[in-house]
Amino acid sequence: MHPLAALDRRHVWHPFTQMRDWARTEPVVVVEGKGAVLVDAHGREYLDGNASIWTNLHGHRHPRLNAALRRQLGRIAHSSALGLANEPATLLAAELVRLAGWRRRIEPGSGRKAEADPRLQKVFFSDDGSTAMEVALKLAWEFTRRTRGVRRPRFLSLQGAYHGDTIGAVALGHIDLFHKAFGGMLFRTDTVMAPYCYRCPFNRAAPERADARAYRVCGWECVDKLEAAFARRGARGDRGVGGGRGAEGGYAGFVFEPRMQGAAGMIPQPDGWLARVGAIARGRGALLIADEVMTGFGRTGGADGRDGTPPLFASMSEGVVPDFLCVAKGLTGGYLPMAATLTTSEVFGAFLGEYHEFRTFFHGHSFTGNQLGAAAGLASLELLEAPAGRRRRRGLERSLGAELRNLWELPNVGDVRQEGCVAGIELVKDWRTREPFPLEARAGIRVCEAMARRGVLTRPIGNVIVLMPPYVMSDTQVRRCVAALAESIEEVLGGPGRGGRGGPGTPRRRGRGQG
Ligand SMILES: Cc1ncc(COP(=O)(O)O)c(C=O)c1O
Repeated sequence: MHPLAALDRRHVWHPFTQMRDWARTEPVVVVEGKGAVLVDAHGREYLDGNASIWTNLHGHRHPRLNAALRRQLGRIAHSSALGLANEPATLLAAELVRLAGWRRRIEPGSGRKAEADPRLQKVFFSDDGSTAMEVALKLAWEFTRRTRGVRRPRFLSLQGAYHGDTIGAVALGHIDLFHKAFGGMLFRTDTVMAPYCYRCPFNRAAPERADARAYRVCGWECVDKLEAAFARRGARGDRGVGGGRGAEGGYAGFVFEPRMQGAAGMIPQPDGWLARVGAIARGRGALLIADEVMTGFGRTGGADGRDGTPPLFASMSEGVVPDFLCVAKGLTGGYLPMAATLTTSEVFGAFLGEYHEFRTFFHGHSFTGNQLGAAAGLASLELLEAPAGRRRRRGLERSLGAELRNLWELPNVGDVRQEGCVAGIELVKDWRTREPFPLEARAGIRVCEAMARRGVLTRPIGNVIVLMPPYVMSDTQVRRCVAALAESIEEVLGGPGRGGRGGPGTPRRRGRGQG
């Protein structure tokens, strides 16, 4: 065992990890990365199949990001945003506002054009996805209390939702495995059916070898459920401030991941769902809180953004401009922990007043607006916006789609769902029955372990294997990722020609190059 691995086992407690299992094998100790490749302490190379937990956009050690960081280091690494402004954070805020100011027009006859919609004008920086959500939640809570006379604003979020691990974000989440233990610490939120076409009780279609969204037979019952949830809450008419009827009725905010729920199991929404539910929530007076921690910065693809290019934010791809847009992970290209919550001048205005009125938003973090993170963020946005960056995303979307088609021949593959540059592959006992593996069978974990032996790293979500490569991953590397997945499924779960695509293999040694 490498000495670093031994030291890690002795002292480091890893997130979302059963540490007894961790201690059974030698962990991969990453010492280097380049492009889509990670190198471990033994010099073995791996493809980064989940972009280092969905953060990395342009690849590791990108020359432009590295140069931006070196330039910034030559000036200053960090100064506080409490009482001080700084250059890169100011520029990044302005750039985020500019890029979030576009939405796809969905009105009839508008074609595929985008139009300017500069509603999101204010940027509150924080550190990670959880804090971006926490900020949105606290702002929405206080905004509602101040402007609508509601004592205890109530929030609605989607079944299977995951919005982070701080307490407010956990309260918005609905994954029992992660959240139940902390139930006693949380405030109450409500949950509503999320579209999950593959396992939807209202989908009358028998299983086919295609993305379940494409062949579903339903009457948009998931949208009806959401409408009913709003109607129920709106009609409740609990007593509000001063005892007036109706003040507490309605939801203060509707929280959602647009286009695809990530940690819920990479569950994409059928076209039109987002626009429909966005209109319902707005019509009922709820604030729209879009969690784009996973979906932001072009992950979910599409071609309906400004100038027919992929929109950078998934909400805008169906014309929805939220009141809060939360971004993190890819904000710095995956280099540094930094997050942002964008919101409207209306929300901002509710916190303005004379000092003695104490309307200030009393919230902040030591590293809010960190210069290094902001410098990386600016460089990342430039790469995303450049024509080559746009072409690369479209190229990755295409090559991923082409390779994923090969998985349909495997009987243990129930659903292959791709949304832009993200894919979730749901493993089942048999595609004809959709019968899931019990969690204790660790099917996803074992398949990912077999992929690692083949030189591809990713993490499962239960029975769903995630592929979310950095945008720089070449077509050949994508082919290797998907081939490793197919071989691993055959090896671990059996199927026709079990192991027939070659044995377990080993990661490549450094120097031979991945591809
Ligand atoms: C949709 C979504 N929101 C919030 C978070 C929390 O982000 P972080 O882990 O950076 O706190 C995540 C993390 O995976 C996420 O996927």
